[in-house]
Amino acid sequence: MAEKLPNPDERLQFEFNRWADEGEGAKMERHHLDITEKTIRLMDLRPGERVLDLGCGSGWATRLLARIVGDGPEGFGQVVGLDVSDEMIRQARAASKDFDNILYVWGSAQQIPWEENFFDKVLSVESFYYYPDQDRALAELFRVMAPHGRLHILINLYKDNPYSLQWVDKLKVPVHVRSQAEYVDLLRRHAFENVEFRNIPDDTPTPDDYKTKSFHSLDDLRAFKKIGALLLMASKPNLRNPAPGYTIY
Ligand SMILES: C[S@@+](CC[C@H](N)C(=O)[O-])C[C@H]1O[C@@H](n2cnc3c(N)ncnc32)[C@H](O)[C@@H]1O
Repeated sequence: MAEKLPNPDERLQFEFNRWADEGEGAKMERHHLDITEKTIRLMDLRPGERVLDLGCGSGWATRLLARIVGDGPEGFGQVVGLDVSDEMIRQARAASKDFDNILYVWGSAQQIPWEENFFDKVLSVESFYYYPDQDRALAELFRVMAPHGRLHILINLYKDNPYSLQWVDKLKVPVHVRSQAEYVDLLRRHAFENVEFRNIPDDTPTPDDYKTKSFHSLDDLRAFKKIGALLLMASKPNLRNPAPGYTIY
């Protein structure tokens, strides 16, 4: 009998389990910390909020979020880290034993295993362009976000930063390459409000002896960091589900 081909989520799981086994999960903190800290400052997080870290990897950003929303006069905030790679989730759990307000869940952005109208804030770092069906992921995000909830999607790969396109061919899984205008349009089509974008430069220095496999040269890497990542921000309207055009998968 012919072997069953993996579905798109299984391909992602397999590939990111490999990354995790090679220690890439924890290493990504070094690459994404500067732009993520700038994003977290814009999230206006408060103690007591419920936050989703979508595509959380090894969980370093989840822990940053958990420290901010944890116990406070306004309540006990909790953070859910969700990832399609079970190995990333295992590593994230192992590194977060001191936290009692984090829950890591193995699952896909294509079918978020959570209840409706729940999360006040969502952060997703360097993950959204991998999602096989971005429309479906946005419909799922809309479903699990609370009315007035705010979404923050941070991505390094997008058309308006031409230097980022240098590493598309090196990836072993398919990705979406869209422009900032196309992403804004996509979010609006999913009924999100107050859709905005910003470019978030990475201000960390690149030493002259830095080795890169992803860029043609260090000058290209520096130019990529100067233009920066794309931060997409959008709010769910003051509306409980079902949302307009919402599909039950
Ligand atoms: C480049 S890594 C970034 C991880 C983490 N956010 C960070 O910055 O270190 C992309 C992550 O997205 C996850 N991912 C990819 N596709 C996914 C999907 N469909 N659902 C949930 N997570 C996904 C991967 O498993 C991986 O951990």
